[in-house]
Amino acid sequence: SYNGLALTPPMGWNDWSYYQCNIDESLIVAQAKALVSTGLAKKGYDTVTTDDCWMAGSRAADGSLQADPVKFPHGMAWLGKQIHALGLKFGIYEDEGTQTCGGYPGTWGHETQDANTFASWGVDYVKLDGCNVPTQPGRSSLQTYRSAYEKFSGALVATGRHMVFSDSMPAYFEGSSDWMASISDASKVSNLWREGADTALGQQSGAAKWSAIAYNYGYNVGLGQYAGPGHWNDPDFLLAGDDGLSTTEIQSQMSLWAEMAAPLISSTDLTKLSPQALAVLGNKRIIAVDQDPLGVQGHIVQQGTAYDVLTKPLANGDVSVVLFNKGTSSQTISTTAGAAGLGGSGPFQLTDLVDGRVTASNGVIAADVPAHGTVMYRVHRGASTKLAPAVSPSFDNGTV
Ligand code: DGJ
Repeated sequence: SYNGLALTPPMGWNDWSYYQCNIDESLIVAQAKALVSTGLAKKGYDTVTTDDCWMAGSRAADGSLQADPVKFPHGMAWLGKQIHALGLKFGIYEDEGTQTCGGYPGTWGHETQDANTFASWGVDYVKLDGCNVPTQPGRSSLQTYRSAYEKFSGALVATGRHMVFSDSMPAYFEGSSDWMASISDASKVSNLWREGADTALGQQSGAAKWSAIAYNYGYNVGLGQYAGPGHWNDPDFLLAGDDGLSTTEIQSQMSLWAEMAAPLISSTDLTKLSPQALAVLGNKRIIAVDQDPLGVQGHIVQQGTAYDVLTKPLANGDVSVVLFNKGTSSQTISTTAGAAGLGGSGPFQLTDLVDGRVTASNGVIAADVPAHGTVMYRVHRGASTKLAPAVSPSFDNGTV
């Protein structure tokens, strides 16, 4: 990691997908409290990030950023104190251009001043968006973004305060011939980076949300070479809790994101989580796969008609296997421990990471998987000494 931070994928909450610009300080504090009262904070969701639209429309007389006086009357240092008092980390949003995507002051030309402001406010995590980055004569867009993001990254380090850096640069190059170069650049100067589309907004339909999840999975799954401790691909927010998606679909997003060692950043109203959404977000066995210290992003080892099989090696020698049914009708998906990377002979022990059921296997890993569904197993080589029945998914499921 270039700054020693984020040795496992960042986890937390961000207001954007659910609230966009309809935010204020009491909302952010209420969501931070809900992160604690739901128990999600102690499971690792520890960073509360205020996204775009927190600022006043212009900088202060000395050029420094200032909070919107109506939405955040106590100011951002105060907000940070409230978040810290809950044992959480304080995340904030800026943009590398002249203006944020929402039209508020961007950091272009103010990188050092803004990094110092954030440090003085007790910020622990900065997301730097990439709207409105000016065109510069004689320089490619890649060169301009690269040097600007490097500048901001360096300014954060120079403050001496530990701040995780979330870099949106690659999201502005998706599909261009510089896309991979932008990801490679981001992986050197930041801890996580957005590469593709935004997951759908809270008010969009369930179908739109599912297609955004499937799309983001599709581009992110092939980018494992860039991921590792301290630097992670970010396919955007977890939508569990938001309306329109089925429990099967939110479970698939959680399982796929964990398999890809993606940041786990919820964006929903945490005060209204259903028991099902809470169980999905709070599944310790699946969080442990995401947060596994080996820090390898899972990859596809087998594909068929409307299905993918992914495998992710884990620090203790187990592998996590996901059977993902991308299609619109149920199907049986079958692979083997050998294909998943556990060569040699069995027996193997399979733990279903959703319901905790433990079964024995001679090497076959198979399940009936519903449409849009996933089955996720932790595969352990060895005799099955602790076969266990399924337990109904509950929030406190899973021990690691
Ligand atoms: C685009 C980003 O991808 C979103 O996550 C959000 O930060 C908005 N900009 C804010 O304007």
